[in-house]
Amino acid sequence: MTRPDWAPEHIDITRASVARVYDYALGGAHNFAVDREAAELVTQAMPELRDVLRGNRVFLTRAVHHLLDLGIRQFLDLGSGIPTVGNVHEIAHKADPDARVVYVDNDPVAVAHSQLLLADNPNATVVGADLTDPAKVIDSPEVRKLIDFSQPVGVLIVSVLHFLPDEADPVGVVRQYMDATVPGSHLALSHAHRSEERPAGMDRALSEYSSNVQQMHARSHDGILAIFGGLELLPARLVPVDVWGPEGRLGDPAVKLPQLAGVAVKA
Ligand SMILES: C[S@@+](CC[C@H](N)C(=O)[O-])C[C@H]1O[C@@H](n2cnc3c(N)ncnc32)[C@H](O)[C@@H]1O
Repeated sequence: MTRPDWAPEHIDITRASVARVYDYALGGAHNFAVDREAAELVTQAMPELRDVLRGNRVFLTRAVHHLLDLGIRQFLDLGSGIPTVGNVHEIAHKADPDARVVYVDNDPVAVAHSQLLLADNPNATVVGADLTDPAKVIDSPEVRKLIDFSQPVGVLIVSVLHFLPDEADPVGVVRQYMDATVPGSHLALSHAHRSEERPAGMDRALSEYSSNVQQMHARSHDGILAIFGGLELLPARLVPVDVWGPEGRLGDPAVKLPQLAGVAVKA
């Protein structure tokens, strides 16, 4: 297999990665055969997958617009992924070219591609780091340069925390990020949801994903709610990703997508 220019030397292109599988499922070009095969296996098990991912991107877009409307001008996007259509800095800079965005991801392709895209952008950057080390991320030179922690921050953790097992303490990780921010800061979060009403193929899809890509931990409604800790959800409930926001439902009302989203404020 020939290695394309955009693929960093040290990555293993015979093993699927979370970021590249997601890129493929969204129609991107930064992926390998192993990623495409894994995505197809999961999609065969649960054809709703692409609706979940598209709904997730719609939630991200709507949440960023909402935070911009509230006056938030700095964003910390944790587990940001391989850049695609509608990146956070593009949305933010359309509203205000002085808005600041820091992306964080631990996938080398996501980091390399973000670096390339942001090379000439003084108000957006990327940190290659594991988000489960909040102190390291918060103290990184990139974050310290662009994020002013004396002003409200929009913390985005979208479709990521289901990759953390309970032992990695997603509740504590989120708390550490939000503890670093001032009141008026917001958390936008989406997370895979396991409920009685889940699509017929979801258990098989999770098992295919866990065997071929990375262990995935879909959580109950209350398990996801717990991740918000003491923050105040506005509106006061979690909803499927394609439903969040005043614009209303995006997809087929008969299909309840198994990924919940919410935006909360630090009082
Ligand atoms: C499903 S993608 C979501 C991308 C983007 N947030 C979105 O919603 O469109 C999950 C991303 O989180 C990254 N990720 C997973 N675990 C991570 C960790 N512990 N630290 C940093 N990034 C992580 C993956 O590399 C991947 O790019």
